[in-house]
Amino acid sequence: TSLDVVTETGSTNSDLAARAKAGEPEAAVLVAESQNAGRGRLDRRWSAPPRSGLFLSLLLRPEGVPMERYGWLPILVGTAAAATLGRIGELEIGLKWPNDLQVVVDGTERKIGGILTELSGGAVIAGLGVNVTLRESELPVPAAASLALAGAKVTDRQTLLRSLLREFAELYGEWTAAAGDPHASGLLSAYTARCTTLGRPVRVLLPGARELTGEAVAVDGDGRLVVRTPDGTRHPVAAGDVVHVR
Ligand code: BTN
Repeated sequence: TSLDVVTETGSTNSDLAARAKAGEPEAAVLVAESQNAGRGRLDRRWSAPPRSGLFLSLLLRPEGVPMERYGWLPILVGTAAAATLGRIGELEIGLKWPNDLQVVVDGTERKIGGILTELSGGAVIAGLGVNVTLRESELPVPAAASLALAGAKVTDRQTLLRSLLREFAELYGEWTAAAGDPHASGLLSAYTARCTTLGRPVRVLLPGARELTGEAVAVDGDGRLVVRTPDGTRHPVAAGDVVHVR
């Protein structure tokens, strides 16, 4: 295992993707104090002022886990992050499916972090960005928040990082020991306990500009969100952007 902290880079995900292509073994952790070309899901940008958050990526080669279960990794990272940051900060952190970290501020759900996973050189690069100390005026969009704005008791990035990595290592160890089985490792139940999307009316924007409206009734054994439409049909969704309607 290697852990590097750099003052500035473009994107920690891009850096580890290059290292994975060059054959680097797991596990490598790369933390940046600042990113000037941070990337988010769906080709979005991820930008934040220097030292205002946690920006890190993990290079993983899950031994003994079949490739088709790699999709659980972003959910695993999200579950570890929500559990640790919530415990230390003494706040409730939920996960909007699949893995947006959310807090409730003044009765409204706001995003404080997200995860971007990519495959490179046979490895999974899992990148996590969390807004820690950003003030209201520094937020990228009004629907965002930071741990500080949500009233977290602790916002020291080093303390948060240390326990986050410990929590991740524990969940990752259980999950790989169970060959990536989300039931046997307890990951699915840990995730559903924090998933704020379950039981809610949702609108899902699917790839190809299609849309689905209904109730989010379950997360299945493949990590898909099961949406029940008004006619009673259940639609498993593998990828999409979820909006909580209420
Ligand atoms: C999202 O769209 O919600 C995912 C955001 C992921 C941002 C993190 S910051 C560290 C890592 N490096 C990147 O370029 N992106 C991820």
